[in-house]
Order: sequence, then structure tokens, then C-alpha cells
Amino acid sequence: MRDVLAKYAATEVPRYTSYPTAAQFHDRITEADYRRWLSGIGRDDALSLYIHVPFCQQLCWYCGCHTTIVHEYGRIAAYVKALREEIGILAEAVPVHGEVAHIHFGGGTPTLLAGDDLTGLLEALKSRFGFRDDIEIAIEADPRTVSEEVAACMGRAGVTRASLGVQDFSPAVQERINRVQPVCTVAKACEWLRAAGIDAINFDLMYGLPGQTAENVAGTAALAASLRPNRIAVFGYAHVPWFKKHQQVFETGSLPDTAERLTQAGVIADTLKQHGYREIGFDHYACPGDSLATAAQTGALRRNFQGYTDDPAPVLLGLGASSIGALEEGYVQNAVRIDDYTDTVGKGRLPIVKGVAVTGEDRLRRTAIEKLLCDLKLDAEALCAGTGFKPDHLDGALRALRQPAADGLVELNGRSIAVTPEGRRFLRNIAVCFDAYWSPHEARHSKAV
Ligand SMILES: C[S@@+](CC[C@H](N)C(=O)[O-])C[C@H]1O[C@@H](n2cnc3c(N)ncnc32)[C@H](O)[C@@H]1O
Ligand code: SF4
Repeated sequence: MRDVLAKYAATEVPRYTSYPTAAQFHDRITEADYRRWLSGIGRDDALSLYIHVPFCQQLCWYCGCHTTIVHEYGRIAAYVKALREEIGILAEAVPVHGEVAHIHFGGGTPTLLAGDDLTGLLEALKSRFGFRDDIEIAIEADPRTVSEEVAACMGRAGVTRASLGVQDFSPAVQERINRVQPVCTVAKACEWLRAAGIDAINFDLMYGLPGQTAENVAGTAALAASLRPNRIAVFGYAHVPWFKKHQQVFETGSLPDTAERLTQAGVIADTLKQHGYREIGFDHYACPGDSLATAAQTGALRRNFQGYTDDPAPVLLGLGASSIGALEEGYVQNAVRIDDYTDTVGKGRLPIVKGVAVTGEDRLRRTAIEKLLCDLKLDAEALCAGTGFKPDHLDGALRALRQPAADGLVELNGRSIAVTPEGRRFLRNIAVCFDAYWSPHEARHSKAV
């Protein structure tokens, strides 16, 4: 491997699930701002809803998510009550709109919700916001919590897509990450979900975890592919022990180094492609014919807080502790601490604590970044001209791309950029050239690969 690639892989850069990124969120965005932004939602605007469920039964040592370990249902039930209150407050603040096209329950482990609570939340959402006929209702599912009964409940509640946290099939790795789930647990979960009519199945895999090698991640990828999920997302372990203290159980020396991470990411990509999966962006794979693969081919692929998506809704509303919303005017984030969240909605207020307003300049750069991450190409001059900017407005970014071009990651032709096959793995390093806020010395992000 070329040393220069290891240098890119080791650089800490944002994941660009938004622009400006969460590092730019600040507390001067108030509930009044949010209410004003909500009032600007158009009559025909479809809505996308993200609902965060911040509870798990057991902590995976690598976990970087907003979650809390619970051993009794009382805390979850109280949280569901708060979610119902928030649904009411939000519905009052949103004008007539184009109904809900997409719902995503994320976590944590949303499959810990009792069947009645999941159904009740969906009924409340439907009665307050209205659902489109072709609505997609997706849920992140820990396979260890999916029984035949849980799958059947999800099917009856209207869930159409389940995203299973698989990570790694090697028993030794599973021991080290405190997440023991044999292959049969995942295979059974898939069988029960499909039997319940939930045909759209995603897997999450990871690399860069302690004990992982190129050989065992290839084995995991092949086994995962044999279970035929429609989509597979592959995440490089983000080691952020200053932020997630439990990750300190992994000693730095026990983690695969940058060169090894890059090898593992490449081996997983090769294995999945050999099994017929199409590569989407820098970390997703989809069966040919899956709507994400089609979106990638037709230029309809998007990037939002859930990563790559074919969800075209112009408005994303976040519900639950720590959830993030994206509107035309800017981004907002709810209180992260569960008590702060429930207290605020209990007072009838929207629980946002921070966010950022989006300027015209931000929108231009966001589009440039999204196009590069999704389409792997960009005509910067055409983008500027089409949005009222001078043709040379993004020339600073093009200058910053000269080094990646010299290193073989992109081809520059005038103001057109085409990402090379080698550059795909480094899309975040390419995107960072368009980020007016990024500084290598400030906010700490995860490694590019
Ligand atoms: C928000 S979690 C929720 C999924 C569900 N709780 C589960 O684990 O089964 C979604 C995915 O994020 C990924 N993830 C969690 N912590 C991570 C970390 N520190 N670095 C990279 N990916 C991580 C895992 O692949 C996980 O499946
Ligand atoms: S189950 Fe998912 S959210 Fe919960 S601790 Fe594990 S990775 Fe994190």
C-alpha cells in the first residue's frame, strides 16, 4: 500500500451527514428559531421523521451511540410517554405539509420497545402528521432482541425495513467487544423478519475492532452476504475514548493500525462485490435492483443523518433525546440527556438545545459535498452558475484538491472533478476540501478510513 494512502486514512475528518457538521452547532439557536423554521415548511413538502430510542440491554465496548443501559421497562415506558408529548407539541408547530414519507427509529435499541408502544407511537404519528401510502418505516434492530414474536409485532405495526447490527461474526472478536451473537441469532432474526413481511433488511458491519484481521473480516463479509440482506453498511470503528469513556477498555495497542484498517475495508469491499453487491458511496453496499443501488445509478442518492439514503424528503424532523432535525433554514438538535429531554417536553416546549442556521454559501458547499459523496463527480462551475455564484467561487476548494489529484484520488479537468476508483475510499478527505469550517487542529472527528 502506498504510504500516502495511510496518511489520508489516518486524517480525522467529518462524516458529512450534514453541512455545516454537528461541530458547528451552537446554543444560540433557540426554540423560537426552530418554531419559525417549522412554520416555513411547504404545503407539498414530504416529511422524514427520525425517532431516537436511547436504551440498550448491554453496552458494546465500541459503542459510539447515544444510549443508556436499562434493566427494567419503567424508564422506557416513561420515555415513550415523553415521545408522545413531543409528537403533540411538534404537530401543533408544523403547518399543512405533504405528509410523512419516511420514518426511522434509531438508537440505542428501538427493538426494546414493547409491541404496544411501537404500535402506539406509529398510530400517534399517523394521526398527527398523516402517512403517505408508500411510506417506509425503518427500525434499527439488535438481532439479540428479535424473537419471532417481536418480528411479528414489527410487521403488524407497519415496519417495512429492519437494520440489523451485525458488526463481526468471529466469536473471538464478539467476546472482545462484549457483543456475543452467534451467526444463527442473526440468521433466525432475518428469517423471522422476512416471515413477518419485512423483506427489506440492512446489516451493519464494522472493521478496525480489536481482534479483527483481514482474514476474519473477509469471513464475516462472506457470511453476511450469504444471508442476502438488501443493503450492508460498513463502518470503521471510531475510537473516541475522550468522548465515550467505556471505549477505554480497548488499549490503543490492541486496535488495528491505519494500514490494517485500510486493508480490512478493502477486503470487505472486495468480498461483498464478489458476492454481487454494488458499492454505494464510501461505506454502503446494495443488491442490484435495491432502491439505493438504483438511486446511485440515477443520481438520486442523498446523504443525511442516517448516512446514504434514497429518501428525497426536504424536511427531516428529529424526535427523542439527542435527535437532529434538518430544515431548509438550518439544523437543530434535541437535548442529549434523557432527563433534560423529558423535563422540557413535560413543560410543553420543544426540547432543542442547539443547532445552526444555514447560509447560501453553506448550501452551495453542502451540495458540492453531497454530489461528491453520492455521485463521485462534480462540475463546480456549473453548480456555482446554477446557484447564482460566480463561476470561480469554489476555486479555493479546487486548489486544495490539487494534492489529492497528484496522489491519484481525483481527476481535475478545468472545474470538473471525477473521483478515481482508488479515491472512493477517501471521499471524506476529498469532501473536506469544500468545508469552510474544517480545521485539522479543532474538532476531533473519526479517522477517514
Ligand atoms: C446507532 S447503532 C444502532 C444499532 C443497534 N443498536 C445495534 O447495535 O444492533 C448503528 C450502528 O453504528 C455502528 N457503530 C456503533 N458504534 C460505532 C463506533 N464507535 N464506530 C463506528 N461505528 C459504530 C454499528 O455498526 C451499529 O450497528
Ligand atoms: S446495541 Fe447498538 S446502540 Fe446499543 S451499545 Fe451496542 S452498538 Fe451501541
